Amino acid sequence: MQGVIAQGAVAVQGGGVVWVGPQADLPAAFTAWPQHDLQGRLLTPALIDCHTHIIHGGHRAREFELRLQGASYEEVARAGGGIVSTVTATRAASLGDLIAQALPRLDALIGEGVSCVEIKSGYGLDMETELRMLRAARALGQLRPVRICTTFLAAHAVPPEYKGRADAYIDDVCIPALRAAHAEGLVDAVDGFCEGIAFDTNQIGRVFDVARELGLPVKLHAEQLSHMGGTALAAQYGALSVDHVEYATDADAKLLATSGTVAVLLPGAYYAIRETQMPPVAAFRAHGVPMALATDCNPGSSPLNSLLLAMNMGCTLFRLTPEEALNGVTRHAARALGLTDTGTIAAGMRADLAIWNVETSAELAYRFGFNPLHRRIFGGMLCN
Ligand code: NIG
Ligand code: FE
Repeated sequence: MQGVIAQGAVAVQGGGVVWVGPQADLPAAFTAWPQHDLQGRLLTPALIDCHTHIIHGGHRAREFELRLQGASYEEVARAGGGIVSTVTATRAASLGDLIAQALPRLDALIGEGVSCVEIKSGYGLDMETELRMLRAARALGQLRPVRICTTFLAAHAVPPEYKGRADAYIDDVCIPALRAAHAEGLVDAVDGFCEGIAFDTNQIGRVFDVARELGLPVKLHAEQLSHMGGTALAAQYGALSVDHVEYATDADAKLLATSGTVAVLLPGAYYAIRETQMPPVAAFRAHGVPMALATDCNPGSSPLNSLLLAMNMGCTLFRLTPEEALNGVTRHAARALGLTDTGTIAAGMRADLAIWNVETSAELAYRFGFNPLHRRIFGGMLCN
């Protein structure tokens, strides 16, 4: 947060911000424009959820019950549950089904002042379904006043038909699907899951090489359950973000600072799988690594559909300050997506704004289970 302006004013034209500052300094040129009195409410950049899996078939309530009985997230995955069980449900879903199932999740985010949502593929794990997920993501952006960023995540898990043959899956499915999805304009960034239950750094590196060749930015699910070296790999490729990073080290933080990579913290997953290893927030702060916060909304490790709750969890579980939490869902979230025209309120930026029924910005992270949104402005248009 660059600071709060008491009695501020924002001039908006053609979908963008043209001026911001104290109302008393409003240039004469703007004083005759139609005015909208916010009656003392707080105005922030609209929120950005920079890591979600909101497109998927089915749910995993059964896995939740198993974990309550003592099974770990990894045990469930290794027994054929986890990501792979969502793959079965997603493959069975039509394009229309995927859109219909994702819409309530998207609407819940929008209802909390979110203007931009990143959506990953990764529950298809075959050419056809990976493309269908990304088409569904693009379609959502046409159905609602919201910006959608698509992320290709076929390197999310090894599908059952390639069990024990992860390298062949990368070569035969993941890389050809990436090329096809890119050719169809469906990919804004490329992601992977670098973990013992997913892919190692060599396999992810091969996917990243293709991303680089295609001119696509990369990001990575890294150091979530163990330290695999994904953070260092991602930094080497100039990744936009590394996500989860509970097991990242001080040395990793240094690398991220050098590569300008955002650390995306996902407290919903930390909470749901009852992780006890905290991400190295102090090291990120010390080295100046920007920290974003996101829901990681997915049917397994983080069935969290509230970015406001993610802010509260970021503070309560990871000891972020409310100011860091707000930056984490605005300017740093924009950076994690490579977006330079949103996430702050400044002349030249898109007018993606949220108006809140609160007195102070700390209130946004402080309450939980309560939505204080008054109205949202998307590209200069006053909506919901
Ligand atoms: O971000 N970590 C890997 N991928 C997801 C989990 C997906 C799932 O469990 O379905 C995540 O936590
Ligand atoms: Fe994720």
